[in-house]
Amino acid sequence: MSYTIAIDGYSACGKSTLAKAMARQLGYRFIDTGAMYRMVTLYFLRENIDIDNAGAVAGALEGLRVDFVPGSNHALLNGEDVEMEIREPAVSGFVSPVAAISAVRRWVVPQQREMGKTGGIVMDGRDIGTVVFPDADLKLFVTASIDVRTDRRLAEMMAKGVATTRAEVAANLAQRDHIDSTRADSPLRQAEDAILLDNSNLSLGEFIAAGMAEVEKLSA
Ligand code: DC
Repeated sequence: MSYTIAIDGYSACGKSTLAKAMARQLGYRFIDTGAMYRMVTLYFLRENIDIDNAGAVAGALEGLRVDFVPGSNHALLNGEDVEMEIREPAVSGFVSPVAAISAVRRWVVPQQREMGKTGGIVMDGRDIGTVVFPDADLKLFVTASIDVRTDRRLAEMMAKGVATTRAEVAANLAQRDHIDSTRADSPLRQAEDAILLDNSNLSLGEFIAAGMAEVEKLSA
């Protein structure tokens, strides 16, 4: 069987780590949908797009192509590898308002559906189980405490050499959670048929095993 697996949750809760590990173990394709919104955001920043100007947003989307490098899964913006740049604070600080724009979501979501139409995919994001693939074979909703999420994101950014502070990281996470879960279009929420995985007190191995156990139940 080639399942479609949807993983949603708050910022920096471990969704991508879980999605990547599950995709590797299953031999599936992994799609980081947050990277797609981050690429749009980076392009808007570079081109100085006024996001309150619908015409400017529509025009910018016409000049934009987002993809992933096969194998490495690095984010590709108009053919340029922007994997590092899309994780920087300038993009993290602006991505939630960009992702709240319906025109942006109407442009991104069909591409996600196209990428996943053959199954054999693990896709992580905010609206995968609710909007992109409401009929996914398995839906996981991941959470972790804000302290755990802040520590993890801070460690990640320091390892990458991005200059930031714990307070800045915590403020960005809280602000993004708020915008992502209160926006009108496709807000972050747990689908009714999603399984909740709280990894605040789980090791990485236990967390991945919990996700894989849910896949095993599908064919049991
Ligand atoms: O997962 P991430 O932190 O890289 O996501 C970046 C932003 O993109 C996040 O603040 C909300 C938005 N996003 C979204 O609206 N829908 C998705 N499916 C994935 C991400």
